[in-house]
Amino acid sequence: MTRISITVDGETYEHDVEPRTLLVHHLRETCGRTGTNVGCDTSNCGACTVHVGGTSVKSCTILAVQADGEQITTIQGMATRAPGARDETEGWHPLQKAFHVEHGLQCGFCTPGMIMASAALLAENDDPSETDVRQGLEGNLCRCTGYVNIVKAVQRAAAEMRGEPMTTNPEEGTMGEADVTERAGDADKLQDLEVAP
Ligand code: FES
Ligand code: FES
Repeated sequence: MTRISITVDGETYEHDVEPRTLLVHHLRETCGRTGTNVGCDTSNCGACTVHVGGTSVKSCTILAVQADGEQITTIQGMATRAPGARDETEGWHPLQKAFHVEHGLQCGFCTPGMIMASAALLAENDDPSETDVRQGLEGNLCRCTGYVNIVKAVQRAAAEMRGEPMTTNPEEGTMGEADVTERAGDADKLQDLEVAP
């Protein structure tokens, strides 16, 4: 066993781990970050994507011991809930809100990884074209959506982060804010996008 210390979503964890333990399993089973999913274990799907030291990483591709001393952000660290928040969506990251508004998910299994990879993409390019988004997310697979609404969600979040909220475009199917309240089903699926206390 090897003693490691990692900081996950602002919380420090020290544990003895087996040298063979993958980071994704350590995050889920020891650090309680079950919002980070395991879709393949073979570096193909991207469901396990987190940020390690600010870089987007598929957490099934590195060992926990390789993350010793690192700052890690998971989907559960993307939102903050202020005291007195009115509802569960308050404090969501713009990407979380945009995936909700644009219906960028169906089963939601890929969504945590999609959002983490998208956040890394937007950190490098704050106004990505559709091609930029598709290329930036090519390592993240979605079995449900066909990607169209995922691309819209990333571009919507980019616009909001630039201070230019995307306007409704009925011809392209972009949803208006009024539709958000009708997405109660999505909100349930987005429970994996847990809000940090
Ligand atoms: Fe890591 Fe699929 S579980 S890439
Ligand atoms: Fe089901 Fe992407 S929403 S895999």
